[in-house]
Amino acid sequence: MKISSSQTDAIETHRPGGLTLTRAALDYCSLAPGERVLDAGCGYGATCSFLHEEAGFKVFGMDASAERIALATARSTGWGGVRARLPRLPFAPDAFKGIFCECVLSLVPDKPSCLDNFFELLQSGGHLVLTDLYLPGATPVSLHSPALTCLDGALNKTDLIRIIEQAGFKIRIWEDHTPLLKQMACEMVFKHGSLENFWNTLTGDVFHCGLGSRCRAGELKPGYCLIVADKVTE
Ligand SMILES: C[S@@+](CC[C@H](N)C(=O)[O-])C[C@H]1O[C@@H](n2cnc3c(N)ncnc32)[C@H](O)[C@@H]1O
Repeated sequence: MKISSSQTDAIETHRPGGLTLTRAALDYCSLAPGERVLDAGCGYGATCSFLHEEAGFKVFGMDASAERIALATARSTGWGGVRARLPRLPFAPDAFKGIFCECVLSLVPDKPSCLDNFFELLQSGGHLVLTDLYLPGATPVSLHSPALTCLDGALNKTDLIRIIEQAGFKIRIWEDHTPLLKQMACEMVFKHGSLENFWNTLTGDVFHCGLGSRCRAGELKPGYCLIVADKVTE
């Protein structure tokens, strides 16, 4: 599907690649106008507006932040939004043909349950689009802990693939988009003066330990990926 950029780009996304990566993901999915699509962790609703206005889907957004979901739904142009915290999903099984989860899974406390719930929510033949940070394959990570930032909650590539497959999905696309992460890091330096200042705007002046602090110290190099996984049932 060829989609041109539009005014939906003006609503800010908060992740590497923005809607450019969403467009690329959409090209990998067979989704028809009118089908039901969920944006899990929709933030301010940029992807919801894009998917509704430009791709013609019946879109639902959800986000844990009361402030973000309120702003998102206030400027919605015909899609619905609800406040809910993953891994809980207030929808019936088989409710959606597509689920987008862009830069959110790393923040979810129980990632395997979240993926199980995504699988249950998707119709047969449906697609899960995930974009997120990932760490080198052998990095010890927690699948279940709450995370202050996406750096703290990032999974390593091996565990990320394993838990997606264990939920029942078949991974069709794995693409590395680390250059987009580096580009966003540069943009944050220009906007906030330094990466440290940027992280402090997100987390405040709290004591950091664990994966996030190792990434911030340059000991661990995170990557960024796009995954498209299918619910294939024989
Ligand atoms: C990096 S932002 C990405 C927002 C949006 N997907 C985008 O691409 O612009 C992460 C979003 O995840 C939301 N979030 C974090 N933990 C969540 C959870 N457990 N359940 C639902 N949303 C969550 C945050 O409120 C935030 O809006």
